[in-house]
Formats: sequence, structure tokens, C-alpha cells
Amino acid sequence: MEIQKGLLKAARTHNLGELRRANAGQDVILMGWVHRRRDHGQVIFIDMRDRFGITQIVLDTGTDAELAQVGSKIRQEFVIMIQGTVVARPDNMANTDLPTGEVEIHVKSLQILNESEPLPFPVVESDKGEASDNLRLKYRYLDLRRPRHMDNILKRINFVKAMRRALEDENFLEIETPYLYKSTPEGAREYLVPSRVHPGHFYALPQSPQLFKQVLMISGFDRYYQVVRCFRDEDQRADRQPEFTQVDIEVSYTNQSLFLPLMEKVLQNALTSFGAKTISWPLPRMTFAEAMEKYGNDKPDTRFGLELHDLSEEISASSFKVFKEALDLGGIVNALVVPKGSERFSRKDFDELGEMVKKAGGRGLAWAKIVEEGGAATWQSPIAKFFTPELVANINKKIGAQVGDVVFFGAGSYATTKASLSELRNHLGKRLKLYKPGSLNFLWIYDFPLFERDDESGRLIARHHPFTMPHPDDLAILEESPEKARASAYDLVLNGYEVAGGSIRIHNQALQQKIFSLVGLTEEEARSKFGFLLDALKFGAPPHGGIAFGLDRLAMVLSGCDAIRDVIAFPKTQKATCLMTDSPAVVPPQALMDLHIKLRATDIKDIIHE
Ligand code: AMO
Ligand code: AMP
Repeated sequence: MEIQKGLLKAARTHNLGELRRANAGQDVILMGWVHRRRDHGQVIFIDMRDRFGITQIVLDTGTDAELAQVGSKIRQEFVIMIQGTVVARPDNMANTDLPTGEVEIHVKSLQILNESEPLPFPVVESDKGEASDNLRLKYRYLDLRRPRHMDNILKRINFVKAMRRALEDENFLEIETPYLYKSTPEGAREYLVPSRVHPGHFYALPQSPQLFKQVLMISGFDRYYQVVRCFRDEDQRADRQPEFTQVDIEVSYTNQSLFLPLMEKVLQNALTSFGAKTISWPLPRMTFAEAMEKYGNDKPDTRFGLELHDLSEEISASSFKVFKEALDLGGIVNALVVPKGSERFSRKDFDELGEMVKKAGGRGLAWAKIVEEGGAATWQSPIAKFFTPELVANINKKIGAQVGDVVFFGAGSYATTKASLSELRNHLGKRLKLYKPGSLNFLWIYDFPLFERDDESGRLIARHHPFTMPHPDDLAILEESPEKARASAYDLVLNGYEVAGGSIRIHNQALQQKIFSLVGLTEEEARSKFGFLLDALKFGAPPHGGIAFGLDRLAMVLSGCDAIRDVIAFPKTQKATCLMTDSPAVVPPQALMDLHIKLRATDIKDIIHE
């Protein structure tokens, strides 16, 4: 009768997180996993676990031979069903760590519903080292059983629910858009799906539903949203997955000053019902230019200061060649002050930070400890000799450096200096613990440049996407200096992560065509890629705009995780593989033939050697 073992013949009466003192005396049926088991001879204590919590049960094996026999077989992660009585524990014996800690269940009967083989790693977390990431991903279902992980996923679910509710309250309609689709230009490489019916033709999985949502506005749906999967074949990082989820939004009859407050209202309602209360509204805003100047970054972590100061003017009076050369080449010199930093960095630390800055593309990192000498705040620094006392005093005053502080300096091109000092800043914020755990610092960044230059081809490319409306004040300069034009585009930043991005769209066909031509699309190319949009814009397209929230990133920050894989049930690895299901996988030759696909000999060789 092995194959009938464990068939369920009753329903559970309670879950494992809900019994309290008020339930004392009740007969209950409980089911769940064996989380921990402590055998004290005459009694066995078992912590039973399900997604709702942990409840302690007690087997009195001294008086019940049958119970003793089943009890002795039980191991971690067996699935069991028990029937028993709820007993209140004496006040001084209550387990205050558990919501169910006021009671325990005295077991009358116990059935093993399923056994578990010895585990590849324990579900109960301990401080005795952690299994490798790969092992945990292979056995993802065991990793997810861990209460902390399950809790991250549950928080995500609650946030999505809250977001949906807040959007529905504002009359948004959730509308599905296709996954089998063609190119969307969001800047990443696409995942292609070959068509069996149309040889040599491919669908592209959407990088976002950008064009569909615009078409929905032209169709008249007025307010759209969708919790939607997006696909991008790009290098993976802790905050990037090849498939990720957006809360995608589009609104008719809007502009930037109407749209951002609407999004804040939705977000405030969602976050309040989610339980994140420590945010002050309205959210702060900063232009792209100011963010770059102050933080060297368009997604600054504003939980701490450490702002960058431009010293280009002051440096011209110094005799430090390295800095002066940087300025002569059109670059910049920036400084960053760490208040009371003198005691916190050794020579070795300075060397290591210098290496870090170089890895981030910077040319070097100079530093100075501010010390008191003869009543003045002077620099103790390898570069002090190049600066007169007056210049040191000037610079100290400009950047607000005081005795006991440390100042870091970076010099070089604008882009590399800002980027490398911004990395240093983020590193220092974390290392010096400059922010309170749990704080949520939102910031809107707006007035992004409309275009940027592609490093390789030198061509203009749309910084957001080519459907973005130029800043109304910059329409006139599109032709002669497109690089100076700003976009009606905005990002939402949370604790240094870009958690949303959007823009007001072009609803005028002539302007759309002009932008396509500025980014180097010929009329034919524009028509073949986006003909349907250009057509739709001719038939009474209302002004519209929108945004997409990166749900995984938001959920990651809201649940205090460091990587988005922690809030995704089945994430992919750095190499975009799923270790649990072993995908992507090789398919039989016939399947490829059906799809009209032929592999190269070198690829076949690689597959054979796998
Ligand atoms: P954008 O490309 O800025 O805009 O994407 C919106 C938000 O999605 C998140 N995101 C990601 N999250 C995880 N893994 C990734 N690989 C990844 N890529 C992006 C980010 C980002 O802010 N169609 C436009 C939106 C619009 O204009 O309305 C778009 O997709 O949090
Ligand atoms: P050097 O005179 O080249 O030995 O440099 C003196 C100090 O300036 C060292 O601490 C270097 O790390 C630092 N330094 C060199 N180049 C740069 C740069 N581009 N930006 C900031 N510091 C630099």
C-alpha cells in the first residue's frame, strides 16, 4: 500500500500561525513541515511550520507507545498531520519569539503525510555558514520554504495588491498586451521567438509594452495599467533580471506637472496600505543636471550627504600638475568631504579606495586629512605641498571642511570623474553606515537630456525612448543643438535605485517623424518599424504620458533585500539560466527544423561537449 501512503482524509482546522491562549482547550487538526525536533526521551517537542508561522507540538511518548513509534521516525521537513488539544503554557514558559508562543498542542495522534530525504541544505537557517547560491537555486523550493525568504515574496505580493488597489481607486484599467510582438526600442538586446508558420520571421518578446499602451490611449481607454513581464537580454546585475516585472502605466490628457502628483497619490496610497509610513509627501524633485553636479549620478542615494563640490575655479591657483592638466583637457576637479573622517581611514584604506576609484574608471584619488596647525585648518596630504595656505583655506571654506574631516579629490573628464566619485560616495555611505536601516528616500529626477551620443557610431540616440516629448522650452533648439535639448522625462529613485522611469509622449505625428529622423531612422525604416504608431498618431491622438515602476526593484528595497532575486520566486542566475529547471536547454533537431533554424557547426560542437 506504499502508493496510498499519506492520502489526506481530513481538513486542517487552523494554520500554524493563528492559535492563541483563547484557543486553549480546543481540539485541532494541524498540518505542516517538521521545522525542528527536540527529543527529550519521554517527550518530543516539534516546531511545525507552514507559511503562516510556527506552532510547537508536544508528543508524550512515555505514555503512548504508538505515538512513540511514529515520533521516533520523524525527521526535518517530513510533512505531518496531528490531532491534539491546545494547551496554554504557563506565563513564564511562553515563547515570546513566536506569535503562537502562548500555547502548545498536546498530540493525540500523528500521521506522516510524506517523508523527506536528508536535505541538501537545512531549511532552518543557522549562522554556521550558508550553502552556495547555486545549490540554493537548484533547490529553490527548499530555499523558499525558509520563513525569511517566504516573507520577502509575501511582502512583494502585498505591495502589488496595494498598488493595484490604489490604481483601481483612480479609475485605471488593467489591460493585457501581447508578449509575441516585434521590436520595442528600450535600448537592450531582445529575446527573439522564431515563427514556425512564417519561415525566417521572428517575434520579439517586449522590452516593455510601450507602444501598445500609447495605442491604448489613442483607442480611448484613458487610464491604463498592467502588472506585466518585460524581457531584456542584457548583462545581469544584482538589480537586473532578464525577465522582470513592471507596473506599467499610461494616462491621457496629462503633462509632467499633472502626472507626477497623480503618481505620488497612487504611490502614497499603495505604500500606506502596504505599511511603509515614514515617507514625507510630496516627494522631493531634482533636475538631472543638479543630480549629476551634486552626486555624480542620475540615481543618487539621498539617505546621506557626502555631496560632490566642484573645485575647477580654485584649482587653477594651485601648482598640482595632475589637477591642472585635467582642467586643461576640459575636465573637472571635484571634492567630497567625509565629516569626522580622520579617525576612520588608514593609509591602507586610502590605497584601497584609490584602487576602487580606478576600477570605476577614475584616474586616481587624492585625499587630505584636515588637521589643526598653528590655529589654522591645514591639510595632511601627499598633495598638500602643491597648495598655498590661502588656497587651502579657500577650498576648506568652499566645501565646508573642518578639522577632523577627510577630503577626497578626483580629477579627469567630467564623465569618468563623476562616475567614479559617485561610486566612492555610495561605497562610503554603506561602509560608514551613514543611513538608518529601513529609511526610504524617494527622489524624482527630471529634465533629462533628450538625446545622448553613441560612443561607437557617434550617432544621436534617444536617452529614454524615441517617443518621449521634448521639453516644451527646447522644441526650438531641436534642429541646431539637439544635444542641449531636455526631455519631458522623469525617473523615480529610491535609496539609490532607479525604481521607475517614464515620460510625456509625442502625440504629434510631424514631431514624432522629426525625432525619428534626428536619431537617424530613414522614413522607410521608421515606417517599417513603427508605421502603426505613425498612422495612429494621425487619427486624433490625445496628449498622453506614463511611467513604468520596476516592481522587482521596489519590492527589493521595501523588503530590505540586496538583490532582486530575493523577491522573485524563480529568478535566473548571472548567466540568465534557471538552475532548478536547467534552462535554457538544447532542443531535438526536428524542433529546430520545424522552426527553419540551422545551427552552426561550432555551436553543435559546443553542445556535444557540454
Ligand atoms: P525603463 O526602461 O526605464 O522604462 O524601465 C522602467 C523601470 O523598470 C525597471 N527595470 C528593470 N528591473 C529589473 N531588471 C531589469 N533588467 C530592468 N530594466 C528596467 C527599472 C526601470 O526604472 N517603457 C518605459 C516606461 C515608460 O516610458 O512609461 C520603460 O520601460 O526600475
Ligand atoms: P602623483 O603625483 O601622480 O603621485 O599623485 C599624487 C596623488 O594624486 C596620489 O594620491 C594620486 O592617487 C592622486 N591622483 C593622481 N591622479 C589623480 C586624479 N586624476 N584625480 C585625483 N587624484 C589623483
